[in-house]
Amino acid sequence: MKKAKLSLDGQDYEFPVLVGSEDEVGIDFTTLRNTTGAIGLDPGYGNTGSCTSTITFIDGEKGILQYRGYPIEEIAASASFAEVCYLLVYGHLPTVDELRDFSDKLTHHSMIHEAMKDFFQGFPPTAHPMMVLSAMVASLSAYYTRGAVDEDVDLNIIRLLAKVKTIAAFSYKRSIGQPFVYPRNDLSFTEDFLHMMFAVPSEPYVVPDVMDRALNLLLILHADHEQNCSTSTVRMVGSSLSNLFASISSGISALWGPLHGGANQKVIEMLEQIRADGGDYQKYVDMAKDPESDFRLMGFGHRVYKNFDPRATILKEAAADVLAELGTTDPLLEIAKNLERIALEDPFFVERKLYPNVDFYSGILYRAMGIPTEMFTVMFALGRLPGWIAQWKEGRDDPKAKISRPRQIYLGATKRPFVPLEERVVKESATVKEPELVPA
Ligand code: ACO
Repeated sequence: MKKAKLSLDGQDYEFPVLVGSEDEVGIDFTTLRNTTGAIGLDPGYGNTGSCTSTITFIDGEKGILQYRGYPIEEIAASASFAEVCYLLVYGHLPTVDELRDFSDKLTHHSMIHEAMKDFFQGFPPTAHPMMVLSAMVASLSAYYTRGAVDEDVDLNIIRLLAKVKTIAAFSYKRSIGQPFVYPRNDLSFTEDFLHMMFAVPSEPYVVPDVMDRALNLLLILHADHEQNCSTSTVRMVGSSLSNLFASISSGISALWGPLHGGANQKVIEMLEQIRADGGDYQKYVDMAKDPESDFRLMGFGHRVYKNFDPRATILKEAAADVLAELGTTDPLLEIAKNLERIALEDPFFVERKLYPNVDFYSGILYRAMGIPTEMFTVMFALGRLPGWIAQWKEGRDDPKAKISRPRQIYLGATKRPFVPLEERVVKESATVKEPELVPA
């Protein structure tokens, strides 16, 4: 076995080196503190492996993404989202019977408890749907767990996958003041979601095939992405043995932030702002480069991808195809393409390896499908759900797993005596203040 050497204060230490199935190399520092007394400091965890995993492989330099060994391009070309859910959660592609049984269960568990409908009325209609989603998913614990313990993990996994699409669609209907449309057992996962979103009681609604295909693709491309911010949150919360619903709810909150899944909403808002500003995208590229400005090109850059994001490549093509098939145009697509072209030629972006990420083109697709901007991150959560669940389950089933508990380097004040309030008051009143100069 390979070893890595570390020299500290004149003493040498050796640590085992772990090589992954795709030849990634990790130095196992599990014993670092016990042997050297030091800890590894890595804010943002850019160099820290928090676990070993068999779910997803990413090579950021080469733009590779694989779920359980299958390349994302091949999965995206012909799989259904239900199949991908099965693959991620159970580790292998389903047989025909397994998929039928799984899809059947996803259909038959899609209703939420009638009492939960009242919860939606408790939120203001203007509440952000990510807030509603997080709260509603946490609320599922009230129905399907005993305190912190899952009554039946496998069944709860199905329930969660099945019910989140209903919760997501209901939160949209509530925000626009329309009656809820109940799930239908004769529709596929993706058709059912679109039906609950867009059907109204007075009119028949048939899900357009192009929308169904686009949603299937979007959900698949978001299904897992190894140890990103929200997934690490799910695993961390799960490491304390919190139940499935509580753990996933915390992942939804982590995803909401604009530096993570919330970027898809921000991308469209940015493109709209550029359009309203006369379409001068160069101005925004310059702003993003200006060290005095904190403006960033939303949808650009990635902690892991340093060449291209394979999901963005697939989505860019799909966005153009879907728009053509729907017979619509979107001026934002042109602005997006121009922004991408300029940014990819500009040394600032080239040197920092800033490429369009998955969020850059997903918003254009959601818009074309009639999904409102505020719902974009909810769509991301719907897609990411099987990945979160698979990662939560892997952490929970790992016999070597421990509660996640990072350490820190303390840079605050050293030990000093506490001064009681009375003494501080006396000291303050004894301080003679200079009279303020009042200008004549
Ligand atoms: N626009 C302009 N400059 C950028 C951008 C951007 N979008 N992203 C990074 N940079 C610059 C930084 O200012 C920094 O420059 P410096 O070295 O001169 O200081 C350099 O590139 C490195 O940036 P970091 O913030 O250190 O990179 P990090 O890996 O920590 O951040 C992140 C990655 C958060 C995705 C970042 O690129 C970003 O904020 N992008 C915009 C938000 C976004 O699209 N998020 C979605 C990510 S994908 C996802 O979560 C699904």
